Amino acid sequence: MAQQLATWTQLTKRSALQDMLELTSGSEYISFGLGLPNAEFFPTEQLARSANEVLLQQSNILQYAPPTELLKQQIQLLMGQRGVHCSTSQIFLTAGAQQGINLLARLLLDPGKTVLSEEVTYTGFLQVLEPFQPRILTVPTDPVMGIDVEQVEKILQTEERPACMYVIPSGHNPLSYTLSREKRQRLAQLAAEYEVPIIEDDPYGFLEYEDIEIPAIKSFQSDWVFYVGSFSKILAPGLRLGWIIANEEVIEKLSIAKEATDINTTTLTQQIAANFLQKDEFTKHLLYLRQEYSSRRNCMLDHLSARLGEVGSWTSPTSGIFIWVRFPEYINTMELFRESITTEKVTFFPGNVFAVGQNQISTSSIRLNFSFNNHDKIDEGIARLSRLVKRHI
Ligand SMILES: Cc1ncc(COP(=O)(O)O)c(C=O)c1O
Repeated sequence: MAQQLATWTQLTKRSALQDMLELTSGSEYISFGLGLPNAEFFPTEQLARSANEVLLQQSNILQYAPPTELLKQQIQLLMGQRGVHCSTSQIFLTAGAQQGINLLARLLLDPGKTVLSEEVTYTGFLQVLEPFQPRILTVPTDPVMGIDVEQVEKILQTEERPACMYVIPSGHNPLSYTLSREKRQRLAQLAAEYEVPIIEDDPYGFLEYEDIEIPAIKSFQSDWVFYVGSFSKILAPGLRLGWIIANEEVIEKLSIAKEATDINTTTLTQQIAANFLQKDEFTKHLLYLRQEYSSRRNCMLDHLSARLGEVGSWTSPTSGIFIWVRFPEYINTMELFRESITTEKVTFFPGNVFAVGQNQISTSSIRLNFSFNNHDKIDEGIARLSRLVKRHI
């Protein structure tokens, strides 16, 4: 039967993320692998109160329904913090950022077309591309400086016009960089000049730790940038809520693609989130998250310095939930990972998982998540990682 499925399914394989989920569920593991927010920080009680209110007060809450205007108004206010000023008619609600990327890809791509991506990027984007089997033009990137904007321009000057470019400007997954204001501005100009839409995937844009809030790329160019937001990392991923900001013409097409996918985003969770956001507890919640996550980031950085200072180098991210660690080139982190599963039982993602084709920056690197574990677990996990790595030095 598998032979009869669509051609792209023959060319794809199960994602390493799924394998990781299964492998690391035992309590003997310390997981720095998945990009999970910490469940302790979900505002469960407040959300329960909101759920209670909306279920009891709104008679049609469990009915099919159009997108919730109140939630769009709250998102409109939030986007002001990212420098984006839009009307609620330019906000499209989705079941998370992943769905946002998926719907946009369906709007922008014809099978076999060309897409521009960094040489190391979020695997969820690559999965979205699979049914279209596009030619991927890869751009060099760097864990600190981010996407090489000059190379983007060179590619746009010389290659077939890509259907879109995909960018994660803040707290990049997996590289962890936050792109400078200048690079954002330049990317926005290039998008307009070469008429290549940018998918700006920004699930970490609100998790900023140094109070240097850099505006979204969308704030510099409204027509050629599609902004994708998410409540997964700042509220709870189980709500499955995100949004796209685009112009009204595009929103109309998105509605058609969305209806074909899941009819509408769950009204219940939209209303719960809107009720919670309206009470203005969210500002406090976000502040709390930023404090907690920056303290975990600092904890991981301190333990890395204390235990792996002589054998590796790493990023000091100013936003997001990841640190990118680089070891000497002779260390193959895929092998390190396989060994860790049976010996030290600390999990992480080998850089190769995120590579688009072969490249140097990924084979001896790993991505570590710092949001999921408490300080003690981070301490123990880095001690295990250090024992593992030192056996290979
Ligand atoms: C860069 C990036 N985009 C999108 C997503 C998916 O987010 P959501 O849960 O909103 O679908 C993630 C999740 O980890 C991510 O890291």
